[in-house]
Amino acid sequence: MKQKRSQWASNLGFILAAAGSAVGLGNIWKFPGKVGANGGGAFILIYIIIVAVIGFPVMLAELAIGRGTQKNMVGAFRTLDKRWTFAGKIGIVTLFVIMSYYCVVGGWVLKYILVYITGAHFGGGTTQYQDYFVNFISDWAEPLAWDLLFLILCIYIVIKGVSQGIERVSKALMPCLFLLLIGIAIRSATLPGAKEGLKFMFTIEPADFNRDTFVAALGQAFFSLSVGMGILITYGSYVPRTENLVKSSAWICILDTLVAFLAAFAIIPAVFVTLGQEGLGMGGGFAFMVLPRVFASLPGGVVFGAVFFILLFFAALTSAISILESCVAYLEEEFGLHRFKAAVGLGAGMSILSAGYSLSQDPGRKINLPWFHFSSGIQMLPMNSVMEKFTDDLMIPLGALVFCIFTGWIWGSKNAAAEIEAGMETRFTLKSVWTFVIRFLAPGAIGVILYFTLWKGQGLS
Ligand code: PHE
Repeated sequence: MKQKRSQWASNLGFILAAAGSAVGLGNIWKFPGKVGANGGGAFILIYIIIVAVIGFPVMLAELAIGRGTQKNMVGAFRTLDKRWTFAGKIGIVTLFVIMSYYCVVGGWVLKYILVYITGAHFGGGTTQYQDYFVNFISDWAEPLAWDLLFLILCIYIVIKGVSQGIERVSKALMPCLFLLLIGIAIRSATLPGAKEGLKFMFTIEPADFNRDTFVAALGQAFFSLSVGMGILITYGSYVPRTENLVKSSAWICILDTLVAFLAAFAIIPAVFVTLGQEGLGMGGGFAFMVLPRVFASLPGGVVFGAVFFILLFFAALTSAISILESCVAYLEEEFGLHRFKAAVGLGAGMSILSAGYSLSQDPGRKINLPWFHFSSGIQMLPMNSVMEKFTDDLMIPLGALVFCIFTGWIWGSKNAAAEIEAGMETRFTLKSVWTFVIRFLAPGAIGVILYFTLWKGQGLS
């Protein structure tokens, strides 16, 4: 079957599309929570170093593999070396799992849009927003319904094809998200009592430079940049050979990191003001438990809230579509499956896993299936933390490690560097540094972190 491969209309379009994939729930929902859980300043510092020294070079390698082969992630490896086809499959498995919990959180975002638009009441008391959120996710039916709605929306759009329209919408919305986040961050950082939160973000405790922080920062950096899962191989395969991959990668990394920092500024000081430091231990619900409080303190806060969650929805949607699209492209190109069948089939599988994630938000939940007469019901597995750790701490670093070894040693850093240089007007001045990182530094660092994750029980515990 002859494949018609599309190309990005412009390099700006490509950068924004890749940034659209990178900027998502990871920046706003996950990043501030991870800063909170891993010691603030130390995590932020390690995060920046990892993005610059490892994330950026690995992103470049992925884009080069994609552009060099013009194939989906599995086809790309097969084209370069048949024995390495498994590398692309690691990406597919990772994306499948990510998508299933991405939809749950995407569903929460949809619910909050409705709450703001209808002006529903959050209840009273000092912990009203927190109680509201916890009540909502502990219910079984409603979050599940929102989760499915989000997934169905993604499937629908992917079946239609990611049209010029969606690209244009996300191009218009990403700058809005950026501006709005700046506004919320300024408001949050100037709340009375916000100082404590800012201090937490900027204080670097030597004791926080530990294995857990490195594991968390590496997994988060790759997740947030959409690196280590083959998304950028797919996106790179649509880039014309005239484009400068180094510049594009730098822009994607900068935009993604800026949004994550803005989100941290928007959320962490507000957590300190509303919930105190112990609020930081509450996992990933910051955006849902804390921002409503900030919005309520603003004139016209309801509008702020509605707009914020709508933009968060678009950020999540553009990322989710890129995930589903990459999996669909694989089934389409490798198995000749029709786009409709591929999207619906994948969606059905994802919805089952997704339901498990949604239901396990309440750790004590027991499922009583009427047709099995268990008197006490089946205890729900704590899938929520397991799935995130499986992807962030294990599969994504593993994918990145395999991509580095492949690029540095199998395809060869010379071939990869030639591909990168192809679109540059000047020489690839960072070539020797990049080669060193891809062949030695990145695989070494990822390998050490994986070793601790797997054999020392860090991260996955
Ligand atoms: N990078 C996205 C985020 O930060 C998530 C994502 C993961 C997108 C994998 C595509 C692929 O939310």
